[in-house]
Amino acid sequence: MLKLAIDFGSATTKIYRLGSGVVLSEPTCVAVLKETGEIRAYGSEAKKLLGKTSDQTEVVFPLYEGQIVNEKLAGALLEYFLSKVVKRTFGTEALFCVSCGCPAEDREKYYRVAKAAGLNRISFAESPFLAALGEDVPLSESNPVFCVDVGAGQTSVAAFSLEGIIAGLSMSVGGRNMDVHIIDHVAENFNLKIGTLSAEKLKTTVGSLIERDNQSMIVNGRDVITGKPRSVSLSSENVLFPIRVYVDKILEYTELVLRKLPAEVSAAVCKNGIFLSGGTAGLAGFADYVAERLQMETHLARDPQMAVVLGGGRALGDAALLRRIRME
Ligand SMILES: Nc1ncnc2c1ncn2[C@@H]1O[C@H](COP(=O)(O)OP(=O)(O)OP(=O)(O)O)[C@@H](O)[C@H]1O
Ligand SMILES: [Mg+2]
Repeated sequence: MLKLAIDFGSATTKIYRLGSGVVLSEPTCVAVLKETGEIRAYGSEAKKLLGKTSDQTEVVFPLYEGQIVNEKLAGALLEYFLSKVVKRTFGTEALFCVSCGCPAEDREKYYRVAKAAGLNRISFAESPFLAALGEDVPLSESNPVFCVDVGAGQTSVAAFSLEGIIAGLSMSVGGRNMDVHIIDHVAENFNLKIGTLSAEKLKTTVGSLIERDNQSMIVNGRDVITGKPRSVSLSSENVLFPIRVYVDKILEYTELVLRKLPAEVSAAVCKNGIFLSGGTAGLAGFADYVAERLQMETHLARDPQMAVVLGGGRALGDAALLRRIRME
C-alpha cells in the first residue's frame, strides 16, 4: 500500500513516500487569475512570479502561519503535488505533520482539504515528535526530549517523551517575519525597495547570527526617492537586526516552556540538549546563538527543513510507533 508523510508547510510542502524517501519539496503557493480564480501556475513555477505578476494575477499562499486560510486553493495545490508523486490517491495512507497542539478545528480543515485532493486515509502527528524521529533521537517514556522547530510562519517548541507532550506551544513567528522586516529595514536604511524573493535570498545567503560575519551580496530594487532601478551591496551586519529580533522572540517563548518543566524533565533536557529543526534553524550561526543565549547544548538537524517529513517517513514504516504518536 502507498504511504505518504506530508508536511504541508506555510512556505514549503515536503512529501515523503515510504520506500522512496523525500519525493517532493516545493513552495506552497499558486498563481491565480484575480477575476476568475483560475490557477495559472503551481508550486515552484508560481513562486517565481512573486512580485512580478501583472494586475490580473496574484500569487497566493493558501497556508498562513501554519493554518489553512484558503481551503479551495489548498485542496487544488495538494491535488497537484499528489499527482506528481503517486498514480492514485484513493487508498493511499497519508500522515500529515502539524504544529504542536494543532487544535481539532484546524485538523478538520486539513481533513477537508485532503479529502478534496482525493485522500481518504488520513492521520496527524505533531512536528516536534517527528523532527526528533527524523534525527533518530532515542525516544522512550523515560527520556524526555526538547525540540524547537522554526518554520516560515510558525515555531513549535515542546518537551515530550513517547508518553506525549509534557509542555509545549506553537507561536506565529518564523522566517517570513524576518523577510518582511528585512524589506522595511533596507527601505529605511538604504532607500531601496526590494521584493520578497530578494529579501528571502538575502536572509538565506548573507543572513547570519555569527558576530562579525562579513558575507555580502548585491541586491537589486527600486530607489525609494528617484523611483529608478538601483542595486546595493549588503552585508550580514546590514540584515542582522531584522533577523535577530525574531530569533530573540523565539528564545523568549522557548524559555517560558523551559521554565514550566517538572524538575526531572528539566534534568533530562539539560543532559540531552535542545534539538533544532525547520528551515529557519538553517540560518548561519543559529545553533551556536541559541546555545549561548540559553546556556544549553544544541543539536541542529542534518537537514533542518526536511527533519519533520523524514520523521513522518520513519513513523509510516513503524505501525506501533505511529499508533503511539498520532493525534486522536
Ligand atoms: N539557510 C537558511 N537560512 C535561513 N532561513 C532559511 C534557510 N533555508 C530556508 N530558510 C527559511 O526557512 C523557511 C522554510 O522552512 P520550512 O520549510 O521548515 O517552513 P514551513 O514548514 O513551510 O513553514 P511552517 O512550519 O511555519 O508552516 C523559509 O522562511 C525559508 O526562507
Ligand atoms: Mg514546518
